[in-house]
Amino acid sequence: MSLKRLLPAAFLLLPLISAAQPQYYTLDKETLKLVQDQYRGVGILKTQNDISIIKVDKRLNDFIVEDLRSKKHGGFVGHMTYNEALEALKPAPDLFPFAGFSITEEERVTPMVDQVQEPELVKTITKLSSFPTRFHKSPTGKESQEWVRSYWTELTKGRNDVTVEMFNHTSTPQPSVVLTLKGSTNAEEIVVIGGHGDSISQSWGGDKRAPGADDNASGIACITEVIRVLMQNSYKPARTIKFVSYAAEEAGLLGSAEVAAQHKKNAARVVGVLQLDMTNFKGSAKDIYMMSDYTNTELNNFIGTLIDKYVKVSWGFDKCGYGCSDHASWTKNGYPASVPFESKMAEYNHKIHSAEDTLDVTGGHANHSVSFAKLGVSFAVELAK
Ligand code: BES
Ligand code: ZN
Repeated sequence: MSLKRLLPAAFLLLPLISAAQPQYYTLDKETLKLVQDQYRGVGILKTQNDISIIKVDKRLNDFIVEDLRSKKHGGFVGHMTYNEALEALKPAPDLFPFAGFSITEEERVTPMVDQVQEPELVKTITKLSSFPTRFHKSPTGKESQEWVRSYWTELTKGRNDVTVEMFNHTSTPQPSVVLTLKGSTNAEEIVVIGGHGDSISQSWGGDKRAPGADDNASGIACITEVIRVLMQNSYKPARTIKFVSYAAEEAGLLGSAEVAAQHKKNAARVVGVLQLDMTNFKGSAKDIYMMSDYTNTELNNFIGTLIDKYVKVSWGFDKCGYGCSDHASWTKNGYPASVPFESKMAEYNHKIHSAEDTLDVTGGHANHSVSFAKLGVSFAVELAK
């Protein structure tokens, strides 16, 4: 139970907080039906492409935020103004369409994929989850990102085509970390492999520990392992590859929003984005689920062929139902992005966002993450060639 539901009176006394609540929502068809079942006579202001704008009062806002979100039902986005809601009705422009990739690098990729080491993944997950929290506003949220920067710097030492930099944000004190491996012949085109470095605890009262082992030390561990394997092979891509540990994803995709918007502002040619968020919990029959919403269909299908060719595990499709991670920031800015996920949405790791999101939950090993690290290696080499 949330603090907010227990203390409604306190929230009424905090006009600043209530004033910051969305006044409007855009809802997909299914979500509109759920809301209408609960609240008869909800006024629909406009409908376009199966998305409707409704105006909400505090009660309806609470229903959406508390009930729908806690059940991981998506299909809704809050807006402060009607104009913002109108903007959201427009489909995200496909500014940088999928370039059309094919598998050609088997001889280089296969040996590298075989070098992915599960103990390396365990090492990174253990280190990151040992910070009491990586919450974006906490001192250790900053320190954990500094650790990522220094570890990535160490892994890439001796390379004059690599920079590891902090991306400082206006919306959060936590920086993102960006490792740029400069392309040798086609540096203007960019491949992005990222995941969020922050963690969160939704518990209230005493325990604010947020080890975030699965969500998302497991994603950062895979990204780190891709970097390690590429460096071990003195790999030089034709296109530029950027590896990102995003700040403040849990606070509303804050870090990736700024990173993706900056690329769009610079008219950067980002040819593909891989988001790794939660990779170590095998919750479902298949090993990998490609989320089909807020992602690029062609890139999703291409990643499917990469899995078949190089990772050789079972995979399927599912949906988040909402912009559930940083890939949504890239999609919003018109770039092709995908998020291969560890389980079906309905069978997700329920320990996330609590003090119990530890490596023990996933058996003290990182076997499930290995597939995602292998996928990351093949994605890097087949896209950045
Ligand atoms: N890793 C989660 C997203 C997730 C959780 C996907 C469970 C699938 C199953 C991510 O870090 C997260 O928690 N995202 C937020 C959304 C964001 C906009 C604040 C969430 O789901 O509440
Ligand atoms: Zn999360």
